[in-house]
Amino acid sequence: MKKITAIAHPNFALIKYWGKSNFYENIPAMGSISVVVDAMKSETTVSFPPELKKDTWVLNKVEQPSLGHLEPSLQYLRSMSPMRQSCLIESTNNFPTAAGLASSASGTASFVKAMSQCLEIQPKRKQMIKATMLGSGSAPRSLFSGFVHLDFFEGALDCMTILNPEEWPLKVIVCLTSLERKSVSSRDGMEISRKTSSFYKDWVNNHYQDIELALSAIASRNLKTLGTVAQENCLKMHEVMKTSQPSIDYWNMTTHSVVKSIETMQDDGLDIFYTIDAGPQVKIICKSDLTEEVCSAMKKISGIKSIIECGLGQGARLIGG
Ligand code: PMV
Repeated sequence: MKKITAIAHPNFALIKYWGKSNFYENIPAMGSISVVVDAMKSETTVSFPPELKKDTWVLNKVEQPSLGHLEPSLQYLRSMSPMRQSCLIESTNNFPTAAGLASSASGTASFVKAMSQCLEIQPKRKQMIKATMLGSGSAPRSLFSGFVHLDFFEGALDCMTILNPEEWPLKVIVCLTSLERKSVSSRDGMEISRKTSSFYKDWVNNHYQDIELALSAIASRNLKTLGTVAQENCLKMHEVMKTSQPSIDYWNMTTHSVVKSIETMQDDGLDIFYTIDAGPQVKIICKSDLTEEVCSAMKKISGIKSIIECGLGQGARLIGG
């Protein structure tokens, strides 16, 4: 029986998307820029066991009640293949799932990569982007390496690497402040914000300026400018969340302590910045010479569950035979 395995890494947005232009096709209302990290990964194995009666997804060794967000991606890939046998999808994450660490992005990207190979189809780049996006709006970014831009140019969707990891080898220090699953999913949270936050319109309309500024900062390897725009963009997104009804606040006490400590280091002249997604975890971006100093400051903060040091990583790929 054929078994295909792929891995993909999570990616953390520096310029974020929050809100969809099409809920059913899961299309973001704005572009985004992220970094793919190396130390965290999702691994997915796909097979078609002859005795299997229905499509089955086993995540971290636990059978799931349904295929969840993988279902639309699977339907789309199946539309390109005559194969109709039930499939077994076995995924594992080497980091906490659904805790604001982009496990749905890396999980979906590894699944799409493995399933395409198992179905013996060769989706084109844009079809891979669509297949992953159906599972998670940020998942196309995990198909690519290093700094990645998910772009909407004149209504057309595209996704590409803008700098490879070795071209600007920054570090991402992930500070875990909780291991619990988040209370509001990104998908639900975005809809609540789109419908109720009075800041939502401005967030969407002014977003392009942040993208442009970040693109030029990345092109010129200007960490200060990138940090300023990324941190502001992150805080704007969390403001949109907080001004939603009901208000969405993913931060916990430790998240606030970590942010305070980073701000102190910034005031002391350290060229570092942070970003936070739909969860309480804080990701700190810096050059490698500051990793030790930043990690030892973080270790002193009570409430931190663990710290994961990452470099920049490669896009989704097949592994093994
Ligand atoms: O990929 P989704 O649809 O679960 O949403 C991700 C949302 C954020 O992580 C908050 C922002 C982003 O651009 O990754």
